[in-house]
Amino acid sequence: MRIILENVDLFQMIHRNSWIFVFTLFFIVYALYGKKKSKAANMTQMILRFFFIIMLFSGVSLVIAYNFDPFYVTKGLFAITMMGLMESSTVRRKKGQQSKLAFISGSILLITVVLMGFRVIHF
Ligand code: HEM
Repeated sequence: MRIILENVDLFQMIHRNSWIFVFTLFFIVYALYGKKKSKAANMTQMILRFFFIIMLFSGVSLVIAYNFDPFYVTKGLFAITMMGLMESSTVRRKKGQQSKLAFISGSILLITVVLMGFRVIHF
């Protein structure tokens, strides 16, 4: 607990600089699987998953540091659902299964989560 409160600046810095990688890599992975470039897609997906963990870890730390502010708890739950949908869409595309629904809902949630992060959407 103390370690989180003492390092809020660091978690903010990590979270604020890493989201763009999730944003970009998701579309790259999805496109690569579509083009059947499995090797490149697999490697890029591993990097994407690494950034999922970074965003999750820094995001949860910030939610704790901000005393579980309901707005950020909601944002976090949206983000976790979004990562699930991203995983589902890329893995389904890899297997050649129907993946459009997960891709579209994941993309909509991505935009929502980023807009909530920048407080464009706020409550
Ligand atoms: C890949 C998933 C995620 C993306 C793309 C994302 C995106 C963002 C963005 C763009 C911001 C604004 C950064 C800025 O002000 O420059 C932000 C802030 C924030 N996010 Fe996330 N986020 C994700 C996951 C999470 C998770 C899982 C949680 C919590 C469980 C979370 C909690 C927060 C909090 C508390 C802030 C406010 C940070 C601050 O401005 O001090 N995020 N997020």
